[in-house]
Amino acid sequence: MLNEVTVTRYITPLREGGSLPGLVEGDDHGAYVIKFAGAGQGRKTLVAEVVCGELARRLGFRVPRLVTLALDPVLGLGEPEQQVQDLLRGSGGTDLGMDFLSGALGFDPLGFRASPAEAGRIVWFDALVGNVDRSWRNPNLLVHRGDLWLIDHGATMIWHHNWPGADASAARPYDASEHALARFAPDVAGAAAELAPLVTEDLLAEVTAEIPDVWLTGEPGFTDPDALRRAYARPLLARAATVHERVTGIEERP
Ligand SMILES: Nc1ncnc2c1ncn2[C@@H]1O[C@H](COP(=O)(O)OP(=O)(O)OP(=O)(O)O)[C@@H](O)[C@H]1O
Ligand SMILES: [Mg+2]
Repeated sequence: MLNEVTVTRYITPLREGGSLPGLVEGDDHGAYVIKFAGAGQGRKTLVAEVVCGELARRLGFRVPRLVTLALDPVLGLGEPEQQVQDLLRGSGGTDLGMDFLSGALGFDPLGFRASPAEAGRIVWFDALVGNVDRSWRNPNLLVHRGDLWLIDHGATMIWHHNWPGADASAARPYDASEHALARFAPDVAGAAAELAPLVTEDLLAEVTAEIPDVWLTGEPGFTDPDALRRAYARPLLARAATVHERVTGIEERP
């Protein structure tokens, strides 16, 4: 289970994010980026963050530690900005938090060199989860103490918006032509050989067990949270073995 932290203070909005994530302080005195259950796509975005973040971590990627944040909507009352106040008041209960990487910079493809191996691992992972949000325009990669960290997995697994069509949707190829790391000759086949065998039913059960029940209840067609957890695992298990053959838009390596 993810650690549970209670929000004690809302510090500031993070201006770069489309969903207006904020910076908060927890009762453990940690600084967290908060993703609100009451924002835009709401709970599904948070589920995607947990599934992809915890899967990536177990595959050896650097991902900020994730926690659940208990938010008392009363914290919104003192916010001068209407949009922020609405978000806080509409997101009482369980939100998502991640360790704030102090001093991290946004990835700049012209100022950072990724090796073909590292680029390949990240492109392969994004293909696995169908991440459409790692383009050179909006890389959602941070450089922290010289290393690349993965953030923002809210726009992945598009199949979870239409479960009856999930298997067909998950069989689709992945277009990496706009990917932030496409220009680094990503060795996707090498990454697949290393990582695909690690994506097992057991690993995915462990990963999906991290999703808080409260974000899984009430999904049409599912009687209980565990049935929905299995639905999240299934397309990922099916994709892992062969998705590298369906990555398009990157230069072939000689
Ligand atoms: N863990 C973190 N540590 C430091 N900075 C972070 C962290 N997470 C996010 N940020 C900063 O906040 C910005 C917004 O975060 P994020 O991309 O997750 O939000 P979003 O609303 O989903 O964004 P998008 O507009 O890409 O959909 C990031 O681009 C980054 O600059
Ligand atoms: Mg982002």
